[in-house]
Formats: sequence, C-alpha cells, structure tokens
Amino acid sequence: MKNYYLTTPIYYPSDNLHIGHTYCTVAADSIKKYKQLQGYNVFFTTGTDEHGQKIEQKAIEAGVSPKEYVDNIVVSIKELWKKMDIHYDAFERSTDPKHEKVVQEIFQKLYDKGEIYKSEYEGYYCTPCETFWTEAQLGEGHTCPDCGRVTQLNKEETYFFRLSKYRDKLLELYEKNPEFLQPLSRKHEMVNNFLKEGLEDLSVSRSSFDWGVKVPFDEKHVVYVWVDALSCYLTAIGYGSDEEKFNEFWPANVHLVGKEIVRFHAIIWPALLMALDIELPKQIFGHGWILFDNDKMSKSKGNVVYPEPIIKLYGSDALKYFLLREFSFGSDGSFTKEKFMKRLNSDLANDLGNLLSRTVSMVEKYNDGYIPEAVEAEDIDKELIDLATTTSQRVDEAMNHFEFSVALEEIWKLIRRCNKYIDETTPWILAKEESKKQRLDSVLYNLSDSLRIVSILIQPFISDTSKKIRKSLNLKGEVKWEDTNSWGLSQPGEKVKNLGVLFPRLDIEAEIKKLDEENEKLAKERAEEKAKWQKPVKKEEAEEKVAEPVNISTIDDFKKLEIKVALVESVEDHPNADKLYLLNLKIGDERRTIVSSIKDNFSKEYLTGKKILVITNLKPAKFRGIESKGMLLAAETADGRLSLATIFDDLPDGTVVG
Ligand code: MSP
Repeated sequence: MKNYYLTTPIYYPSDNLHIGHTYCTVAADSIKKYKQLQGYNVFFTTGTDEHGQKIEQKAIEAGVSPKEYVDNIVVSIKELWKKMDIHYDAFERSTDPKHEKVVQEIFQKLYDKGEIYKSEYEGYYCTPCETFWTEAQLGEGHTCPDCGRVTQLNKEETYFFRLSKYRDKLLELYEKNPEFLQPLSRKHEMVNNFLKEGLEDLSVSRSSFDWGVKVPFDEKHVVYVWVDALSCYLTAIGYGSDEEKFNEFWPANVHLVGKEIVRFHAIIWPALLMALDIELPKQIFGHGWILFDNDKMSKSKGNVVYPEPIIKLYGSDALKYFLLREFSFGSDGSFTKEKFMKRLNSDLANDLGNLLSRTVSMVEKYNDGYIPEAVEAEDIDKELIDLATTTSQRVDEAMNHFEFSVALEEIWKLIRRCNKYIDETTPWILAKEESKKQRLDSVLYNLSDSLRIVSILIQPFISDTSKKIRKSLNLKGEVKWEDTNSWGLSQPGEKVKNLGVLFPRLDIEAEIKKLDEENEKLAKERAEEKAKWQKPVKKEEAEEKVAEPVNISTIDDFKKLEIKVALVESVEDHPNADKLYLLNLKIGDERRTIVSSIKDNFSKEYLTGKKILVITNLKPAKFRGIESKGMLLAAETADGRLSLATIFDDLPDGTVVG
C-alpha cells in the first residue's frame, strides 16, 4: 500500500482556538480521508508546541506550573478535534520526554557537525512570536513585522545555526522543484522578502528563560522553540525510536501551514534537514487566513469566532463544509455569520438536503419505499449518468492541488443537476399514469444511484452527512472511491429510510442572535472552567493591583487630576515580578518611582530619556512589594499596540498639564 504523510502545524496551546485555527486541521483531515478512500496508508500528525517564554509567562499569570498549564489546555484541544471528527494519527506534544530526547539528539548532531556555534546575539525580540528581528525587518516604532506588537531590544549569549550557508541551496531547491512550496506566490514571498538579501545565521538557543528543552552540552540554554516544534514532525512518526515506521512515512508528502509560518517551514526547516542529512518533505503548502471584518482573528481584537457554538447549533459538517467551500485554500477569506448561514441554506439545506428528502419521499410514495429498477435510459438520463460518473475525475484534479472549494463545487454541480433532473422529469406527473411506471422507476433509480455517488464524493469533507445519506438509502458495504466511476451499484429492492431533515433552512437574523448568545455562554463557561484549575492571585496581590477608582462626571472632577510632564531618568526590572518595570522619574524638583506593566512593549533604552505624562496625585499603591506613586498615561489599540502619552514640545519636567 502507498504511504502518505501529512501534518498540520504544531499548535501553540490555547484554550481559545478559533475557527481560523481549525481551518488547517479541517483541510488536513479531508486530505487524509480523501487519500484513504483512494487506498493510501495515511498518517496525519498534529500536536502542541508547548515550550517557550510565552507559555512560561502565561503559566505564571495563571499561578500554575508551565506543565500543569499545558496539560489542561491540551485536554480542551483534543476535545475540540473530537467534536469536529478530526482523525489524526499522532498528537505530538513537544513536552513529551521522547520528543525532548530527539530534540537534544538533533541539537547535539548539528553541534558535532559544526552546524551550530556559540556567539552573542543582539536583536529586537518579539515575545509573543518568540522571534528575533533585525532593525531592518521591524515595522514602524520597532514593531514586530508579523504581529505588529512592539519588540524589545535584547542581548544574549546564544548558539547560532549556520542558516546563511543554505541560501543558495534553498534557492536551487525552489527553482528545481516548483512543487516544494505552494502556492507559487509563497515562493515569491520567500525569495523577495528573505532570500534575496542573503540569510543571516539563526539564533537557536535562549538563556533568558528555561521552559524548554535543555541544550545537551550547555544547560544554561534551552533550544529555540521553532527547532523544537518543527522536530515534532519527525518524532511523531518514530524518528529516534522506531526507524522502520519513520522510513515508511518520511519524507512527508505535505506540511500544511498558515501563511505567516511559511518562512519557518520553507527556509529554516529544509536547511535544518539538509544539515542533518535527512530527506526534505515533498511539499509545504501555505494556506491563507480566515479573516473577520478583513482583519486577522485574534482574541485581543475581540473578533474571534469560536467553533464550538457553531458545531453545537449546526453540526461540525456545516462548519467544515463552509470553511472548505467558501474560501480558496491558498488565499485569505473573510468570515461573516451571514455568509455562513447563507451557504448553509443554499448548498446544504436547499441543494443537498432537498435532493435527499425529495428522492427518499418519492421512493416512499411511488414505490412503497423500495428502490426500483431502472429499465430504460433516455438522453436526459445518459447525460446525468455521464456527469455522475465523471465528477470524481474533476474532484481528483482539484484535490491534487488542494483546491477544496473547486472539488466541492464540482460535486455540487452534480447535486444541482439532480434537482433539475427532478424538475425536468416531473415524477409526480409520471406517477399519475400506470403506463409511465417504468419511466418513473428509472427516474427514481437514477436519482438514488446519483445520491450513492454523491455520498462517496462528499465523504472526505462531510463524513457524518455522507453516513446519513448512506443510511437513508440503505447503502451497505465499504465506501470505495472507485465506485464513483461506476453506474448502477445501488441495489434495487433496498428499503429507504426517511431520517428527517438533513440541514434545516435557517432564519438568518434569528440564528445570528442565537449564535451570539451561544458564543457568550461559551466564554462564560470557559472562564469558569479556567477558574477551576488556575490558582487565583493571592488576595493581597490582587488588592495591590487595584488602583483607586476615579469617578469623573464633571469638568471639576477632571480638574482634580494632577497631570504633569515627567522625565524618565532610568528604568529597572522589578525585583519580584518578571513583567514589571520600575520607572524612575524626575518631575520638577521631585523624584519618584512608578511601577508599570509596559515591559512587554518597550525596552529600557527606548524609555530612558523620554518625557511622558503622569497622573501625580493618586494614592500610592504597592505592586509586589514596591510602592508606585502615580500612573503614566498611554493609549492602547485593540491588538495590544501601546503608545505613551507625551507633549509635542520639549517643556521642562514638572510642567502641569490641564
Ligand atoms: N506553534 C506554531 C507552529 C509550529 S509548527 C512546527 C504556531 N502555532 S499557532 O497556534 O499560532 O498557529 C497554528 C496555525 O493556525 C498556523 O498555521 C496559523 O497560520 C493558523 N491560524 C491561526 N489563525 C488563523 C486564521 N485566522 N486563519 C487561518 N489560519 C490561522 O504558529
């Protein structure tokens, strides 16, 4: 049997996976089911990328250990994939000791081969993306080019991987092997944005935190999360533990990834594999993003659509169908609830649902519920049969390029043709005359057999619906792809069953309301669930964090606030809190310290010497043991970009604002 290995990315553990996150997994699951139908022995890997500073910080905030933190989240991710009927073969966790051992072996091997060397790194670090950037790559205001958040200038001792020496090999790889990176637009991005200018060596260890795989020969360092996470693709199929299995499935046929992580898969990953003398995957496919209001879905922007309420109200097939049919896999697409409901109404309720219910009820009404025998074939039948038995070829062509939307459209052409066939052959009129019984039988048989083919064609995408159709038509036996090319495999005499409405027609306005309510309910449930395992912050600490409430209702109230220009003389790390700074300020003749949580947003160098605006007459509050006198003013966008309030002209510190 031919083997086929495919992967989704190894996800960051989040208890808030949104429908954008499910996109890739839904696609991978369809490919798996599709390839299986064609007789392949498929292995599908997904998993969680559990190390790194971001997770460490989140765990601290939650008051639990990083391992406890990820363990709890992994349970919810697995539950989601189960709800969505996603059939992965390996769920690779990067904290699995077997995987950690492989990462250490890989690192050691690279070091022994001289592919890794020790040096010092200075660069702009984006903690959420766990990525260092050079100044030239940064956006305006030292922001991360990927997520737009402000980066921090960091200097640390690190091990470097000799990525630079692979530049020409990578260019050659893309040139000689156009299938390697798809769609082709991604190749242009890689070449123009990263390879053209020359590649720099890559920092592949960190020493500023320790939630990661220890570098085997230098325990002060942990391995860079991307090296760790990418290696999951190998560990999942037995690299380092089961050589036979590994050889069976490697090289991977395809790594499916979102467009923002193509760089790691199409540059770093092949270079690492070349350095390790491991064969390269056959393809990296960089799919587009599901946008919401033309913006990337993200919790901080408050535009997240969760899969669970959709699944609860409409079933996982509705969500899967929508994702695969509505958007073109290689491009971005915008999600709206209206689009989703409309697609459900038109394709699933009107086209497919109607076809099944019309066919079954006519077989019940005109032939006592038994599938009749086809007796003769008229031109119109031949045309239908031809379309039905050739659709799989067009689906196959589309699926070879992961064009799910095209594949589904081809299937729906057949479904819509069947509905039209009913309107054209008018079985209800045929039923009125005994002499037309044979013709009526043929029409009903042709519809039943077309639906049999449809049930196979849709199986990889919406398998639950496929099962329902097969049950309704009493189709027995294994679902086989080659049966889509043959006509007449439905057995006359089988009794059909009316299993009720496949997809009800939705009142769009009412349903949107319902969906919003479910979303809210889910958010509440999640918060309660979280509270069960996350340890609440200690009472004194919580009190420390609450500033005096200020109730401003009149201009006089506003005047009660004393706002002054302050000069940031120096910035220190808070001795007891990783995420806080101590800002030492000069405000006229006075010197005071403010504790501030802007550490993620600004480096010390950036802040020092700046003149900022500060509220100076607030009651002092203690933050983790250090008194903070006042509050700085800042503006924050929904996606977390922060800018400090200041004044246009260089007025002396201590100047009153009002
Ligand atoms: N941990 C890394 C991957 C390491 S792979 C060796 C990571 N994880 S992630 O959880 O942030 O993202 C997982 C996948 O979800 C990525 O492919 C990403 O592109 C995808 N998506 C996240 N939001 C998305 C949309 N709104 N739309 C489509 N896919 C998006 O990156």
